[in-house]
Amino acid sequence: MQSIATLTFAPSLDCATETDVLYPEGKLRCAAPQFEPGGGGINVARAIHMLGGKALAIYPAGGPTGAHLTHLLQQEGLTVDVVTTQDWTRQNLHVFTREQKEQYRFVMPGATLHDEEIHALRQRVAALAAGSLLVISGSLPPGMDVADLVDLLVFARQNHLHCVVDSSGPALEAAVREGGLLLIKPNRKELAALAGTTLDSLEQVVAAARDLIRREVSRYIVVSLGADGALAVSREQQVLATPPAVTALSTVGAGDSMVAALTLKLAERASLEEMLRWGVAAGTAATLRHGTQLCDPQATARLAAEVHIGR
Ligand SMILES: Nc1ncnc2c1ncn2[C@@H]1O[C@H](COP(=O)(O)OP(=O)(O)OP(=O)(O)O)[C@@H](O)[C@H]1O
Ligand SMILES: [Mg+2]
Repeated sequence: MQSIATLTFAPSLDCATETDVLYPEGKLRCAAPQFEPGGGGINVARAIHMLGGKALAIYPAGGPTGAHLTHLLQQEGLTVDVVTTQDWTRQNLHVFTREQKEQYRFVMPGATLHDEEIHALRQRVAALAAGSLLVISGSLPPGMDVADLVDLLVFARQNHLHCVVDSSGPALEAAVREGGLLLIKPNRKELAALAGTTLDSLEQVVAAARDLIRREVSRYIVVSLGADGALAVSREQQVLATPPAVTALSTVGAGDSMVAALTLKLAERASLEEMLRWGVAAGTAATLRHGTQLCDPQATARLAAEVHIGR
């Protein structure tokens, strides 16, 4: 079993609450706030932990919000490696309206990272054992540009780490340009942006994923297709996994839960089919829960047995 670490550049302390309805000017009386950890890599580490695995969460954190975030993660039993930052960790606000049953997500910019803080994150990566899996997920905060990300990817490769990248926009583009990754998990829209075209049919999705494999961008490409499941492609194989029909309550956290299960199966050196089966099961399991909640392990195991595998 390979060790797993996750890296999050823009973590957050998320505050979730409820109110009857949103309207301007007047006071909106809200329910007592519930605080939860947020950020791509942090959620991947949490979901790995829920699924019975272990992952070290590396992230920058500052101020009382950063301390609160770390406290929440330690309460969940996670092992963390924190780089203390000058800027305070951001707080996002999630408001559920009881009347319309709508979820509003107010997302703040990530805390600014200074050069020495980015350097400190690199040092944490350097301390990981050769052969470990490193999951890089989420957005880049102010102060960090795609060149810093590429530096880090090159550095990770030189240190014999295997990188899993789940991002979008310029960050994903830069990672793809650099190549040599272990796994990327674009959704259909992210893959279309990479391919520079629309992907209307499954054949077009397969062709775009195959093209990335041919260019040695990544050893595995998993394209997530929402309720349709996901497609995995390697140099030798292609697998399509479809979840059973479910009533999705909230798709927030589906992508992170999927990446968690994919990474856990990679660390166990499972087959491509097994990896995808569990990835889809965990993603779909996350949709059975309200709000930002991640995959429940029992639901994941049950769904894994029901995922349909095709080519
Ligand atoms: N409506 C749904 N019904 C069933 N399963 C779903 C649904 N939406 C997502 N999933 C599951 O979660 C996986 C990942 O979802 P999706 O393709 O939406 O990823 P994503 O766009 O990266 O998500 P995120 O918004 O969390 O980043 C899918 O492959 C599927 O297994
Ligand atoms: Mg995603």
